[in-house]
Amino acid sequence: MADTVLVSDDGPIRTVRMNRPEKKNALTHDMYVALATALEDADRNPALRCLLIAGAPGAFCAGNDLQDFLKAAMGGEGLGQPIIRFLHALARRKTPMVAAVQGVAVGVGTTLLLHCDHVVAGIGARLSTPFVSLGLVPEAASSLLAPRLMGHARAFSLLVLGHPLDAVAAKEAGLVNAVVSPGEVEDEAMKAARAIAALPPEAVFAARRLMRGDVEEIVRRIDEEADEFKHRLQSPEARAAFEAFLKRKK
Ligand code: COA
Repeated sequence: MADTVLVSDDGPIRTVRMNRPEKKNALTHDMYVALATALEDADRNPALRCLLIAGAPGAFCAGNDLQDFLKAAMGGEGLGQPIIRFLHALARRKTPMVAAVQGVAVGVGTTLLLHCDHVVAGIGARLSTPFVSLGLVPEAASSLLAPRLMGHARAFSLLVLGHPLDAVAAKEAGLVNAVVSPGEVEDEAMKAARAIAALPPEAVFAARRLMRGDVEEIVRRIDEEADEFKHRLQSPEARAAFEAFLKRKK
């Protein structure tokens, strides 16, 4: 397998980069395992004080691989252990997380941002969660965290109606901290990560824990969503939507 997730440590900062640009960083099970491992392991390394999650130019992440979803649907499976493990890793993380978003962020590419502490987006970034039009339901505890962040109406527009947010709208909704030109996204994100890493780490971790509230509530919501997701994956409407995407003519 090519290195579809690249992990590199530079002093107190671990960069975790999704690296499947030819598929717009659509996530496979192997990628979820690598991402979860990189996140979980960061909490065990006291030298690490901040995680930076990045993608490729033009593609932060196109969400779950739809071929994998189709296979799961045909096999009567749910989200699967690698995905659940990654989502739990996001929720349970103690190390602060910064995201550098360029280009498309679809599905979990957007919902993972709800677990981040600082998000830098490039002009032209497009955040979308077409769960319902795919016959699915929101995941990654987004049904809990998005209404909490932006209010029910805006969360409904994003998560149910599937209306995308551009970088500026995402900033207005509270999901993004800074909007910069695409070429500056990674530098700005690294600057933010360094600023976080320069603060007294125990105080940062404690403040973050207090601000995030009950982690078990978030984990429970991930599991509830996953139960519903499993039913939805089996639905004829979901299968038809995956097949339509995979067979589409460009
Ligand atoms: N799963 C599997 N393959 C995907 C994918 C996904 N989620 N997203 C993109 N790809 C693949 C495309 O099939 C294409 O592969 P090909 O070159 O072998 O045909 C390649 O990535 C490039 O995608 P393309 O659609 O040509 O790029 P684009 O710039 O026109 O559009 C997206 C990018 C992300 C808007 C579009 O690919 C898309 O809508 N993808 C599906 C996103 C999605 O629904 N995710 C699941 C959310 S739950």
